[in-house]
Amino acid sequence: MPTYQRQVLICGGTGCVASGSLELQEALKDRLEACGLTDRVLVLQTGCHGICEAGPIVVIHPEGTVYTEVRPEDAAEIVEEHLRRGRHVERLMQRDIHSFYAGQMRLTLQNCGRIDPERIEEYIAYDGYQGLANALFSMTPEEVVEQVALSGLRGRGGGGFPTGKKWEFCARAGGGKKYVICNADEGDPGAFMDRSLLEGDPNAILEGMAIGAYAMGADEGYIYCRTEYPLAVERLHTAIAQAEEYGLLGDNIMGTDFSFHVHIKEGAGAFVCGEETALMASIEGKRGTPRPRPPFPADSGLWGKPTNINNVETWGQIPQIILKGGDWYNAVGTERSRGTKVFALTGKVNNTGLVEVPMGITLREIIFDIGGGIRKGKGFKAVQIGGPSGGCLTEEHLDLPVSYESLSEAGAIMGSGGLVVMDDETCIVDVARFFLEFTQAESCGKCPPCREGTKKMLDILNRITEGEGSPEDIDTLERLAYQIRETSLCGLGQTAPNPVLTTLRYFRDEYMAHIEEKRCPAGVCQALTGYSIDPDRCVGCTKCAQVCPVQAIQGERGTPHSIDRETCIQCGACVKACPVQAISRS
Ligand SMILES: Cc1cc2nc3c(=O)[nH]c(=O)nc-3n(C[C@H](O)[C@H](O)[C@H](O)COP(=O)(O)O)c2cc1C
Ligand code: SF4
Ligand code: SF4
Ligand code: FES
Repeated sequence: MPTYQRQVLICGGTGCVASGSLELQEALKDRLEACGLTDRVLVLQTGCHGICEAGPIVVIHPEGTVYTEVRPEDAAEIVEEHLRRGRHVERLMQRDIHSFYAGQMRLTLQNCGRIDPERIEEYIAYDGYQGLANALFSMTPEEVVEQVALSGLRGRGGGGFPTGKKWEFCARAGGGKKYVICNADEGDPGAFMDRSLLEGDPNAILEGMAIGAYAMGADEGYIYCRTEYPLAVERLHTAIAQAEEYGLLGDNIMGTDFSFHVHIKEGAGAFVCGEETALMASIEGKRGTPRPRPPFPADSGLWGKPTNINNVETWGQIPQIILKGGDWYNAVGTERSRGTKVFALTGKVNNTGLVEVPMGITLREIIFDIGGGIRKGKGFKAVQIGGPSGGCLTEEHLDLPVSYESLSEAGAIMGSGGLVVMDDETCIVDVARFFLEFTQAESCGKCPPCREGTKKMLDILNRITEGEGSPEDIDTLERLAYQIRETSLCGLGQTAPNPVLTTLRYFRDEYMAHIEEKRCPAGVCQALTGYSIDPDRCVGCTKCAQVCPVQAIQGERGTPHSIDRETCIQCGACVKACPVQAISRS
């Protein structure tokens, strides 16, 4: 076997694949071949490094050099300069990624970007399947459950239910057939924590499920993954086949009498199918709609059998908890929220991507230290935490330590980890409308409060953003929100009003400006805003009139021009064309 002097790791996560990492990989391999360096340099494909926006990412070891935004055209220079002459290609190192990683604690994501997810040997080389071996050879199932309980781990799928307790319920359910399920439906807009973990470290999920199956007495597992995640599905299939080949899944695992078989079920992508009872109905081939609980899955789950369902990230934390001990995990975080949480940091921050942080970190640290602050030097306005069922928090919450308790006190939720940052040019009423539009469209329609109530709320929000709201609308919105929350069957309806309630709580003035003054303070709602020309600035050059696609601008050359708001379609072409910045939105 050749001894390689260098390893070139190329990100093969969905984000980097979309920005050309596969082409880059080919270009690098071709160049290495042409230069006769293939026996000295090993090229590997890894999972996501987190900072997808700066992709494609290339890391070269042993130096640990990180190159960002690398194009296939850069392959020749990397080979010539770095791999042949040992000199950095400085122009590919301009992006400050140090601050992005400095505040993070990558436990769940530790292998993402480090190993080739398509080679189980690499996972094994980093202690992979050692946790399962420990469980099978030196722990009873009860001891495994105890360690999970001791860790303080809470479900990362949104609800935050203590995982140890949940496992205990399922373990205690009578003998016979049992199932474990991995919930990889991940329907929140903008969230991709689970996808990245499945793509970058699929064996960690399989090992977590196998440990859980041993602890609870299950012999069969399902991974319910949305079909829009083809790379994740493909890597899971590869990982399952390799694990079976090595005797780490299937019959008589590691020579013991414990057997565990895993299947993948692809979901069609309905948000409601992430709800556990809808998900199980979908696996059974029925329509994916929720049903009342009890009975809970631990008593009557998949095909009526005791079932334990956990989120991808929850399963992903299990191998290390068993390997290093519940105490080890319990030492990180706050009193009632232990360990780390992965967030998808998006919106108007400089560094967007996947970040894993210890519980208890403040929102300010996530947004300003790791995220690098607000784009284009604009002001911070709010952060939507917890996805479409979450809440909008403000400047006053920036120093709030992130935990299940603190977020729910402030009116938001941890959710599955969506964090959308908004700048001071964001209209908060429009944001609430956007999230409600999503949940309304995803309502399965089974129960009237959610089906009809969210529609009514959305109608009101549409009217407000179109300048046709009335003061009574606020009371109606609040009344409907509480009713829907209290009377809906499942979590979708129960949490759908959250974005409206938190924005009404923290940004009521902005709602009132839309209703009473017919004004959108952020200048976003089209019906309430328009472009105008400052006559004192305008030099009458006619450039704006020339670019306007609907001839909405009038004026003689050399005299101030004006915009007819009725005709204007607000495309913004004139703003860019004006040489003296005389046109603004108001
Ligand atoms: C509308 C709706 C969508 C959900 N979507 C997901 C999802 O995509 N992934 C997930 O893990 N949990 C989702 N959940 C939560 C699950 O019902 C369940 O609580 C979770 O999978 C349990 O795993 P955990 O204990 O590890 O968090 C959703 C819940 C609701 C009400
Ligand atoms: S709350 Fe909404 S999504 Fe849930 S069951 Fe009722 S209608 Fe369906
Ligand atoms: S482009 Fe600017 S300066 Fe020229 S006519 Fe239009 S508003 Fe006036
Ligand atoms: S996909 Fe490459 S860094 Fe995320």
